[in-house]
Amino acid sequence: TSVPVVVVGAGPAGLMLAHLLGRAGVETIAIDTRTRHEIETTQRAGILEADAARDLIETGVSDRILRDGYEHEGVELRFGGRPHRINFKELVGESVWLYPQTDVFIDLADARDRDGGTVHFGIKDTEVLDIATDSPRVRCTATDGMRHEIRARYVVGADGSRSMCRDLVPEDRRVRYAKEYPFAWFGIMTEAPMSAPELVYAHSEHGFALVSQRTETVQRMYFQCDPDESVDTWTDDRIWETLQARVAGEDGFRLKEGPIFEKTVLRFRSFVQEPMRRGSMALAGDAAHTVPPTGARGLNLALHDVKVLAGVLLRALGSEGEAALDDYQPRALQRVWRAQNFSYWMTQLLHTAPGSTPFDLRRQLGELDNVVGTRAGRTYLAEQYTGWPTSTLG
Ligand code: DHB
Repeated sequence: TSVPVVVVGAGPAGLMLAHLLGRAGVETIAIDTRTRHEIETTQRAGILEADAARDLIETGVSDRILRDGYEHEGVELRFGGRPHRINFKELVGESVWLYPQTDVFIDLADARDRDGGTVHFGIKDTEVLDIATDSPRVRCTATDGMRHEIRARYVVGADGSRSMCRDLVPEDRRVRYAKEYPFAWFGIMTEAPMSAPELVYAHSEHGFALVSQRTETVQRMYFQCDPDESVDTWTDDRIWETLQARVAGEDGFRLKEGPIFEKTVLRFRSFVQEPMRRGSMALAGDAAHTVPPTGARGLNLALHDVKVLAGVLLRALGSEGEAALDDYQPRALQRVWRAQNFSYWMTQLLHTAPGSTPFDLRRQLGELDNVVGTRAGRTYLAEQYTGWPTSTLG
């Protein structure tokens, strides 16, 4: 088999790229080691920028987000036991959408089926060969046990935070930037009504908590925990007690409790590999960069990568040739480092590092007060959370 572009990784980044190329008449084969069911049922992020939501609708993926998503015009920062709303709409004229990544994936996978795109889930033993040449190849074993070889002009590594594609860039040709954090998130899914109409990012002396939503009857919440925490030692009662303590305040705010049907410890780090391209292979999304979850940048950043990459690949497959790919990294990386900074900043703003002192806690409260108490501070958060006005990007 031979196609212009093979996409390694069929998560939202890989499938959106395949969709954008498909619309322009370019055939792709996308492959993933995970099954479709596995991807659909792994809880991931929940917030889409307005631009990303518009892209899903306007490029013809699906407009289901308009029916099943929730438009949020702001978020709440809670600290010192008090709520402080950041009004995105008023500050920067934008909103975000609560629409789980699993739904984005389902829409994209359905759109590929509908449009006759080729996606193979559950494949094994992927090998990517000859990326330094103009005829790279991908070999893999399909679910029927057959070994396949796909020839391509370009290969895209959209294979997530444990990418194998990024390792194909030789060590002496790449730089890896990374930062580890001394905490993780304990994430739960609960069958309960919404506790708040928008997301609540809570700073407390007991650590960070985030109240998010999924539907009228299913909620998503997180609280800061030790990276080595084991979910087995956490009963529902202990989880609710922890969450309630972190959002408690003089306004008497209480979370609406219900049965917890999923518990996961999510470790995270900041990571960037440069360059985002080597020869005939480009990296996109988490394969090239991962961010801490605070601020919900990961999926949005991945979708931005593939939007840029789709345009560049179409030019490269047209008259311009491989030189067009030189435009990819400069146009993607500016947002990558802005998002790295924002995710890092939101993380350090709201989490309690082990061994932090009363000074550290009060300094954080000073910074939070500066963020919510000045229009510049609120705007700083709002512009980044909603994905940056295009006019501020080069
Ligand atoms: C969700 C996750 C995030 O990391 C975030 O910042 C906001 C929401 C979520 O899963 O809903």
